[in-house]
Amino acid sequence: MISSQSSAADTDSADVKNLFRDYVVPSYGRFDLVFSRGSGSCVWDTAGRRYLDFGAGIAVCCLGHAHPALTDALAGQAQKLVHVSNLYYTEPQGRLAKALVDLIGPGKCFFCNSGAEANEGLFKLARKFGHEDGRYEILTARNSFHGRTLAGIAATGQDKVKRGFEPMVAGFRHVPFNDVEAMRQAISPATIAILIEGIQGEGGVSPVNPDYLLGLRKLCDEKKLLLLMDEVQCGHFRTGRFHSYQRILEDTPGGALFLSDGVSMAKSLGGGFPMGAFWVRAPYADLLGPGTHATTFGGTPLACAVALKVLEVVQSQGLVENARKLGDDLKTALQAIACRYPRVIKTVRGMGLMLGFELAPDIPAFANTDKSPAILLVQRLHEAGLLVIPAGTHVARLLPPLNLSRAEADEGIGLIERVVKELA
Ligand SMILES: Cc1ncc(COP(=O)(O)O)c(C=O)c1O
Repeated sequence: MISSQSSAADTDSADVKNLFRDYVVPSYGRFDLVFSRGSGSCVWDTAGRRYLDFGAGIAVCCLGHAHPALTDALAGQAQKLVHVSNLYYTEPQGRLAKALVDLIGPGKCFFCNSGAEANEGLFKLARKFGHEDGRYEILTARNSFHGRTLAGIAATGQDKVKRGFEPMVAGFRHVPFNDVEAMRQAISPATIAILIEGIQGEGGVSPVNPDYLLGLRKLCDEKKLLLLMDEVQCGHFRTGRFHSYQRILEDTPGGALFLSDGVSMAKSLGGGFPMGAFWVRAPYADLLGPGTHATTFGGTPLACAVALKVLEVVQSQGLVENARKLGDDLKTALQAIACRYPRVIKTVRGMGLMLGFELAPDIPAFANTDKSPAILLVQRLHEAGLLVIPAGTHVARLLPPLNLSRAEADEGIGLIERVVKELA
């Protein structure tokens, strides 16, 4: 038996994998890597090998690993007050709610523990909004991803997450992405809300078009629907603005006035400390009154103190500009690689530090295997010392920390080019 004193670093990787084999529900397809520590944009495996981390826990560790300011905030708050129930008030939750409202727009916030739970809150908000006139249906995009709870998989526009869990929670339908007319056609007398990601992440790094966003806003106003944004993956400064729709609309006339009615957040919010939240626009901010929605761990002083520190560091260290500048340069470098090796990379998508490249079909080195090209590429990048995240069968995602340095960006591009060249 392993004592509570032991850690993965003390145990060799085969022992760790055996523990998982015997005791952890096998719901994840895991890569063959066991990590024991991290610092900045790097993580080390139990054998001491360094990896440059361009996945950041799937857009979670926005300040990299073991950031001293976050460690201090965590330790400092842990010495004062870790948790009290939401039956009482605590200062960090109130201050974090105000900070998020200042970044998004007039409204209020609810705190929870994950992205799926943040979306669940938005679903309940929509149902409450439509309850009196019997409207409950939420339209989402094909290829979207909204979490793994029962309502989350019902909302997600991908069959693979639903398979085996039918019947689905009622009241969700999926509509072609980036097509306002298709959305208009899909609205029924029961429809109450539209939920979309600013940039589809799991779906392969596909941004919404500016005209689509403005069109949806108009459509929702006309039909009295709530427009809800899932910014769980693409939000929190990753694109070079707080939320992705702000970046997507910044050069579009009228774009600066765009506001949705609700936004879900999680991932980078706590910089690695698990938390989620949703923001709801002012006219609807009091719809979920006392007794209608709750979660034990939502907005603890510990989580909120860390999230406040994330915001402070991002803003005081110019990381929004860093995400934009380095992200744009990374995209240009990826596009240059795609031009040199068109038989390996088909397209490059995304903005800021949320980038994806789609692999060309029929890469000869990936023939005759049942693994997807995305997985095979990611494995080769791991062997080269770079962590990136697959999305679907043909896309590799780069979601590095917002404080990535220029030297680390160059190193990552060098590793990608080396692997792509080998495949060409
Ligand atoms: C857009 C989006 N929404 C929701 C979720 C679910 O978040 P969580 O895994 O924290 O429940 C994810 C997770 O990847 C996501 O990318």
